[in-house]
Amino acid sequence: MPNIAYINGEFLPLEDAKISVEDRGVQFGDGVYEVVRVYGGQPFQLEAHLTRLARSATAIEVPFPLTTSEWESLIFEGIRLSRYQESKVYLQVTRGVAPREHGFSLALVPTVLVTIREMPLPDETRETQGVAVITLPDIRWGRCSIKSLNLLPNVLAKQQAMQAGAFEAIFVREGFITEGTSSNVMMVKDGTIATPALNDHLLPGVTRQTILDLAQEAGSVVEERDILQEELRNADELFLVGTTIEVLPVIQLDGHSIGNGCAGPIAKSLLARLRAVVAQKMM
Ligand code: PDD
Repeated sequence: MPNIAYINGEFLPLEDAKISVEDRGVQFGDGVYEVVRVYGGQPFQLEAHLTRLARSATAIEVPFPLTTSEWESLIFEGIRLSRYQESKVYLQVTRGVAPREHGFSLALVPTVLVTIREMPLPDETRETQGVAVITLPDIRWGRCSIKSLNLLPNVLAKQQAMQAGAFEAIFVREGFITEGTSSNVMMVKDGTIATPALNDHLLPGVTRQTILDLAQEAGSVVEERDILQEELRNADELFLVGTTIEVLPVIQLDGHSIGNGCAGPIAKSLLARLRAVVAQKMM
């Protein structure tokens, strides 16, 4: 089986998978999700993703439908059936199926959807040359630490970035940066790596934590703090981190060059360290 989905208790080819029109995920975006990267047949940081999925579900009062070992069996079975070595696992839990009313019953049975899709090879040009980003006002709600299906502002901001010839949009709330539409943001100034401190306005990224740990292990000074939008423009380096992009250098912000306009050495070395951890886990 190539791209596959698990829905209502069975695995199917992705194109045959169906969901009820009365699923609250469809009607209201009433659910939560995760994206897990699979390297060499092994899901990376699965435990952290499952922990965050449980936390997101609990935060919106959706009963967490499977135990950790049930999720693991499901995901490993999916990876085995797909036969992909390099893939992207998408996990989605919605509140379930019910007639369309905003209020909900706590007795609904959550819908579990899992998809496994092939992951294209990393874009080496993008990684080595870096990307452009724009900044946009963060018009999202006050609980962005929940990985909710409601991604309309993210989708529209990403589209705006693409239309401006940029790869990503970085959100700015009251003068401070929060995160990208589907990534966390890190900057380097005078050798110190800084990233916004965790709060309700950004997702506690799994990659963010991995990279902070790797940076600290490598002896870098790391700061989790509020970062003003203006600081980004004067950064020596800027980069995005996330499950699918790993570590992606930014060379242009709102049309201005960052640092010397080339992918920075710290971003490159953190990507190499991440890849080394991945390689070790695959052995
Ligand atoms: N997004 N911030 C936002 C808003 C995100 O959607 C993501 C990930 C991240 C990075 O988190 P992590 O390192 O745990 O992937 C930060 C996934 C990949 C997506 O929506 O496709």
